[in-house]
Amino acid sequence: MPQAHIIGTGSAVPKRVLSNKDLEGIVDTSDKWITRRTGIKERRISSKAEDESTTGLGTRACIKALEMAGISPESLDMIAVGTVTPDRQFPGASCMIQKELKADNAYAFDVSAGCSGFLYALAMANDSIRAKSCHNALIVGAERLSSILNWSDRGTCVLLADGAGAVVLSSKKKKGGILSTHMKSDGSLWELLYSSYGNSYTPEILHGLDVKPFYLKMEGNRLFKRAVECLTSIAEEALRHNSLSCEKIAFLVPHQANIRILQAVAKNLGIPLEKVYMNVQKYGNTSSASIPIALDEANRNGRIKKGDHVLFAAFGAGLTWASAMVKWSI
Ligand code: ACO
Repeated sequence: MPQAHIIGTGSAVPKRVLSNKDLEGIVDTSDKWITRRTGIKERRISSKAEDESTTGLGTRACIKALEMAGISPESLDMIAVGTVTPDRQFPGASCMIQKELKADNAYAFDVSAGCSGFLYALAMANDSIRAKSCHNALIVGAERLSSILNWSDRGTCVLLADGAGAVVLSSKKKKGGILSTHMKSDGSLWELLYSSYGNSYTPEILHGLDVKPFYLKMEGNRLFKRAVECLTSIAEEALRHNSLSCEKIAFLVPHQANIRILQAVAKNLGIPLEKVYMNVQKYGNTSSASIPIALDEANRNGRIKKGDHVLFAAFGAGLTWASAMVKWSI
């Protein structure tokens, strides 16, 4: 059976840096509070420029990943984009990115699975490659969360940000690459994190309420606890499935939501913090983009080496959570 190998990574973030100090001038908050509760020091926020839209950031990340992979856009069969903030309700960000890349031989679709969108898309591409219905796939996480934030809600606007990351997956006969993927969801808890406007059901508009649209709503405390439980259990499942102990893992690359969530998960798993790749301090929570941005950074700065076992774990709106175990082959 062919194996899906990651052969290129890329990422792109907006130019504008919004620091915690800057946020002190926008809402009633402090650098001390944000740093202590989340670990975030700064984040990137998109301008109105086209290359900083979800499509623009996604396209830039894809170009870098394709360059590293050394393959042309025409050789792609699939483009799958995890996003909760496509530029338009339809068509998908994936089709808009396809146009920008001129990847004329691919089929393209979006995956809406909250912060797990990138890993859900990766899992689907892995299955297609193993089933021989796809040879080269571009998997993307791209978000412009700043566009759906309530900039007067200090409980959410200090957390989320914009950016994109991408990987090229390719079918190879050699062993390694993606060893396993696991996906879960619990729709009964969707009200812990959602966007209050859009699509066919918009309560605020249906009931004539005076609520500004597009706002992301979140119950941070309850999410925090579920995030720790779900990330721990799905990482454990991946380890068990591959008969691997934590000692054999070179890096855990988790969804970058909050440093305290990552510390708690590392403790539960018995993984030393040095092996947990973290860049939430620089980029905040970029939802489905956070894992591919962190992965690209770790790959380009040489932290991940050929033959390393790398474990990915994500958790987000839905609720959804997912993992992937990869034997690194670049
Ligand atoms: N600045 C200053 N004070 C604040 C801020 C802020 N930005 N936000 C909230 N507070 C206040 C609250 O009003 C509250 O004040 P009170 O005690 O007077 O009522 C106090 O700080 C404590 O608030 P909590 O919400 O209990 O703080 P907590 O320690 O839970 O931290 C946080 C909040 C950071 C949101 C945390 O719950 C969290 O990270 N949850 C995970 C949520 C998450 O990451 N969501 C993103 C998507 S899902 C995912 O990616 C995992």
